[in-house]
Amino acid sequence: MRTVACVGAGVIGGGWVAHFLARGYRVTAWDPAPDAERRLRDLVDSAWPALTRLGLAEGASTADLTVAPTLAEAVAGADFVQESAPERLELKVDLLAEIDAAAPAHVVVGSSTSGYSMSEMQVRAARPGRLVVGHPFNPPYLVPLVEVVGGAATDAWAVEWASEFYRAAGKSVITMDRELPGFIGNRIQEAAWREALHMVANGEATAEQIDLAMTAGPGLRWAFFGPCLTFHLAGGEGGMAHMLDHFGPSLKSPWTRLESPELTPELRDAMVRETDEVAAGRSNAELIAQRDRRLIAVMRALAEVEAEEAAEAAEAREAEGRSAEARAVGGDREDRAAAQVRA
Ligand SMILES: NC(=O)c1ccc[n+]([C@@H]2O[C@H](COP(=O)([O-])OP(=O)(O)OC[C@H]3O[C@@H](n4cnc5c(N)ncnc54)[C@H](O)[C@@H]3O)[C@@H](O)[C@H]2O)c1
Repeated sequence: MRTVACVGAGVIGGGWVAHFLARGYRVTAWDPAPDAERRLRDLVDSAWPALTRLGLAEGASTADLTVAPTLAEAVAGADFVQESAPERLELKVDLLAEIDAAAPAHVVVGSSTSGYSMSEMQVRAARPGRLVVGHPFNPPYLVPLVEVVGGAATDAWAVEWASEFYRAAGKSVITMDRELPGFIGNRIQEAAWREALHMVANGEATAEQIDLAMTAGPGLRWAFFGPCLTFHLAGGEGGMAHMLDHFGPSLKSPWTRLESPELTPELRDAMVRETDEVAAGRSNAELIAQRDRRLIAVMRALAEVEAEEAAEAAEAREAEGRSAEARAVGGDREDRAAAQVRA
């Protein structure tokens, strides 16, 4: 498994290229836009310092990127293909059929689509069994999540293979057993986004208040404990069970426009059981200690970056001040020289 073909090299395709290069793969890319190669190389060059700070795989190099002149040449020698073309159904349907026709028969093809199901996209491919969705988050070279799911005509082995491959390539993988519009990450994000838009539309909160509420509140915790484990701790010693029994009635309060599901005994028990699985035997005290340590780690890391940014901004202002002063002195000299010439 050495070579990945990236078809479509915009924001996401280019991000995938940077990711695979940093993990030590050879990448062949293809994108029909006339300026695609320059844009792609610029994107990779601008991502590389961050990827270097993060740690490159042994031997990883931007020199392992080849931009192919045709789609067929890009995928001919590939061990895996990542499709990241524009989000238009007709285009994806045709493109996936073309990739399928050109790529070696055993190679799995992943689509970055944000919104289409593979069932809709695989309809014209001759070998739809090897087509899966591999949905990334922007930028794919830093945000680890990939959601993998097949369509009605996808073979189970292809979903498994893609999940294993992405994992080996350093991603955090969710393998879904059914198609779901928006997958998982975007459904959660979209719920918060729609509520934010409702609040702005109704004059209930400003964009500034919404962003601060997230970054200084739930967003900080969600970087390491998801909503389930977070609310498990909100239930104190009684965990998720107590949380649901205690706060269950507030699901009917108008805290969001999103309709609440009925908190049936089955749902309550499923939440308790599944959250216990996430807790994986960690006691309340252990989880609290981990949460606090991670919160402090995130807050310290942010404070460090903010201090660096403030120092850089102060330096830039100082440099700007020095050059303005130099210009003023230079101008003064020129004025005096001109006056001498006139005299
Ligand atoms: N932008 C995001 O945050 C995000 C996140 C996750 C998934 N996605 C998905 O990734 C895919 C790409 O989105 P993007 O944001 O990179 O778009 P983009 O517009 O930045 O890039 C699309 C690229 O595809 C190229 N292209 C046009 N026609 C093509 C064709 N026939 N074959 C191959 N390439 C072609 C374009 O020249 C362009 O470079 C979409 O399916 C999108 O839904 C986007």
